[in-house]
Amino acid sequence: MEIQLWREILEPYSLAVDELVVKFEHMIRAKRQNGQYSPMERVEGRVKTIYSILEKCQKKGIPYERFEEKLGDIAGIRITCQFVDDIYEVVRLIRLRSDMRVKNEKDYIKNTKDSGYRSYHMIVYYTVETEKGPREIPVEIQIRTLAMNFWATVEHSLQYKYKENLPESIAERLHKAADAIVTLDQEMSSIREDILDSQISFNIKAEMVADILNNIQNLYKVANKKEVVQIQDEFFKIYSTDDLSALNKFSHELDTIAEGYRAQSLNLN
Ligand code: GTP
Ligand code: MG
Repeated sequence: MEIQLWREILEPYSLAVDELVVKFEHMIRAKRQNGQYSPMERVEGRVKTIYSILEKCQKKGIPYERFEEKLGDIAGIRITCQFVDDIYEVVRLIRLRSDMRVKNEKDYIKNTKDSGYRSYHMIVYYTVETEKGPREIPVEIQIRTLAMNFWATVEHSLQYKYKENLPESIAERLHKAADAIVTLDQEMSSIREDILDSQISFNIKAEMVADILNNIQNLYKVANKKEVVQIQDEFFKIYSTDDLSALNKFSHELDTIAEGYRAQSLNLN
């Protein structure tokens, strides 16, 4: 076996990780600068340490000189999101990129691992420029919620501590904790939907109010003043009840009245 020049071998992986972190961070910033919500909360990257590479080769019976072709996670990116739906949005964005070629995807959210582990994994090819020309580097991207990340971090440190001998009682509690994480993620998703719903109904209400006030102002020019004042009072009354469907009904009635005046003025001409 030839002497392995580890640092030189790992250099392109390191470059790929650095470039990808910059790109993902830029995607987050671009959203936030536009006042938009970023589906990515945080991005981190790492190159597997030489020690971890040796350990994994040994565990899996991989000859050391073949680690590059056998290990798909020498370069790793981890993206954390607030909500489960955000994960699938990130997956969609990655699939659309021309600088990342998706090799494979594993959905451990829909297909939870026996351990209880959940995350979305993608292996993508990313090209870096090296002294010897362009090189396509496989990069493992793990996409998970903050809650999934919390569980995986704790579980990983316990696995590491106990190696193959994780006590049954701890494994069981980890499974329970994994179930709790699923519930937490679902709970968070429903809160998010409520927030989005209330934002939407706010916009609908604002539009309706603008429509109504516009109609009242136009009526003021053509209709009986007393009648318009009555309409306006009626509007304030309904508005203060915060009843969206009543407001909608009122808006339609007002449209009909305004329509009537328009028809009248047309007849006069
Ligand atoms: P590895 O040899 O572990 O890389 O497995 P694989 O090549 O079949 O890929 P897999 O998608 O199963 O796992 C890739 C990576 O996901 C691992 O290196 C871990 O970082 C993470 N992972 C997978 N399963 C678990 C798990 O049960 N617990 C934790 N904490 N992390 C996991
Ligand atoms: Mg792997």
